[in-house]
Amino acid sequence: MQVSKRLFSLETESAFAILAKAKKLELEGKDIINLGIGQPDFPTPQNILEAAKKAITDGHHGYTPSNGILPLREAVSKKIYEDYNTSVSPDNILITPGGKPVIFFAALIFGEPGVEIIYPDPGFPIYRSMIKYTGATPVPLELKEKDNFEVNIELLEKLITNKTRLIILNNPNNPTGSFMNETKISQLVNILEKYPETVILSDEIYSKIIFDNFSMPSLLKFESIRDRLIVLEGWSKTFCMTGWRLGWSVWPNKIIDFANKLCVNDHSCPSSISQYAGLEALIGPQDEVVKIVKEFERRKSFVHNGLNRLKKIKCFKPGGAFYAFPNIIETNMSGNQFADIALNELGVALVPGSSFGDSVDEYVRLSYANSMENIEKAIYRLSKI
Ligand SMILES: Cc1ncc(COP(=O)(O)O)c(C=O)c1O
Repeated sequence: MQVSKRLFSLETESAFAILAKAKKLELEGKDIINLGIGQPDFPTPQNILEAAKKAITDGHHGYTPSNGILPLREAVSKKIYEDYNTSVSPDNILITPGGKPVIFFAALIFGEPGVEIIYPDPGFPIYRSMIKYTGATPVPLELKEKDNFEVNIELLEKLITNKTRLIILNNPNNPTGSFMNETKISQLVNILEKYPETVILSDEIYSKIIFDNFSMPSLLKFESIRDRLIVLEGWSKTFCMTGWRLGWSVWPNKIIDFANKLCVNDHSCPSSISQYAGLEALIGPQDEVVKIVKEFERRKSFVHNGLNRLKKIKCFKPGGAFYAFPNIIETNMSGNQFADIALNELGVALVPGSSFGDSVDEYVRLSYANSMENIEKAIYRLSKI
């Protein structure tokens, strides 16, 4: 049997492998605290569950339009208007099974041998994996701790060439928890305006999990780049709906039809039940979201202070998402070695920095999507390293 050569370029998300390892150790009777997983530890809010049950009893059992039901796309459009004071037609919105397919589709639409795609390093591992799969050259844009893990604009500009088709940005950032505010995003847009042939994929999946009273500077607010901007968003993180597989994205006129064709070819449509649940999430009460973000902010401060109290660990202050990205260089271990010892000897599951790029071997990612009690216990255990 021969498989396509392209398949050997695919990479994976090691957070899933770590989760499997942690589960195995738990089954063997070990006490494991899982700080490896990138999903909120809260249940989906009750009103959303009720809407899903109603969708089932109301008979929403069939296929829907491939781009999603119109009321949902209208609700997304309204939400964008309320949040960012900008109009997006429901025709430019695509509902997909989670946000991840947007990365897949953008890479398939723009990637091919001979072109370059810039992506954040450290960053969500699927970016590089998908770029490589298409045969395009992945160009890492290093995010450095000295820049608060924000995009270094001069560095970005040096990486843009006449072969650059797509630039992937992610704010707030996974894995570092860094957040770029409106001033920084405006500077970034000023540079992007100089390269009108380059498309931008802005991954804003953590847009609602932002601390210190900042608001989200979505790239959707910037009219000058809208004709070549794709925005990836969704329900997974904001509404604790990772398993419902529901995402939304905004696409420019020139490419929405290609993206929609990929939907038809790939999955026909997202789950009808999830779409009705997602509609309630957007139009129903938002107090659960506010509560959850407050709790993440409380944990963020606890984790940041707690890690910085440990002798050989330094942790940058996260501004969003639910991750901390401590620097462990003074332990004289690589992130891989540190994560191995944390899991196998101390019972704390973490993800090594190297899972997110080539520039962050001396870091680990810690997700604080776990109870305060467990986080406290985990930090105590890590103090033994
Ligand atoms: C930065 C980033 N983008 C996209 C996704 C994919 O989200 P979804 O579960 O909605 O596919 C994730 C999930 O962890 C993520 O961290």
